[in-house]
Amino acid sequence: MADITFPHALPRHIAFIMDGNGRWATRAGLPRLKGHAAGMDVLHGLCDECLGLGIPCLTFYAFSTENWSRPWDEVAGIFNLLEVYFQRELKNLMAKGIRVQFIGDHSEESRLSAETRSMMERVEAATKGNTAMTVTVALNYGGREEILRAAQRLVESHTPLTAETLAAALDTCGLPDPDLIIRTGGEQRLSNFLLWQSSYAELYFSPLAWPEFGAAALREALADYAGRQRRFGGLVPDKDKAVAQA
Ligand code: IPE
Ligand code: IPE
Ligand code: MG
Repeated sequence: MADITFPHALPRHIAFIMDGNGRWATRAGLPRLKGHAAGMDVLHGLCDECLGLGIPCLTFYAFSTENWSRPWDEVAGIFNLLEVYFQRELKNLMAKGIRVQFIGDHSEESRLSAETRSMMERVEAATKGNTAMTVTVALNYGGREEILRAAQRLVESHTPLTAETLAAALDTCGLPDPDLIIRTGGEQRLSNFLLWQSSYAELYFSPLAWPEFGAAALREALADYAGRQRRFGGLVPDKDKAVAQA
């Protein structure tokens, strides 16, 4: 198996589609919200593991533009959990030097509550100067909505539309594209996540529910990633990767 301690074999940016919370809870005879709560509990360990490995960027898909179609009590419950989580975690994020930023539509016209929006502003402002790791949380996020918003901004400001100007107008401006997208819960789709940025991401699907996805499962995913040959449309395998696999 490929060696994940070889630095060039590690992704710089991992994006997680945290799926399977509801089914995990239902299987355990619990309400779905308990699954979302259990899903929050694994974040800490995964961030610590990635910090230890020196992976600088993580993105977590927390709530999609399509998730508003769920029953209101589940939607409200998810936002309540997020608010409580970040309130509780802020000290820890500061101690570890983790910067948090949110992507998605967070405008005043969005459906996000004033409480959620002010929590996001608080966390972003407080962690802005942290440099050990950047954690991006996709909240009220949809890849198509993000691309449309970016294109609209460029048109309004009469900026020529190129791949570079569009990428720079996306919410993820400044972040490298994800090298690895991990989806838990067994489904094999992107569900409107990072559509522009995922063009050359390696995809990894785990049958585990998100609350079951811990450090050991992450290491398995990283070992799988380290064994991939990324060609980006070319023919020659990356030299460093060849050394890592030797
Ligand atoms: C993912 O878990 C979390 C969110 C979409 C907010 P789900 O709630 O989709 O869990 P399943 O897919 O129903 O098991
Ligand atoms: C994707 O999960 C969205 C998040 C993880 C936030 P969903 O459960 O909403 O996706 P579908 O409905 O199975 O495609
Ligand atoms: Mg789901």
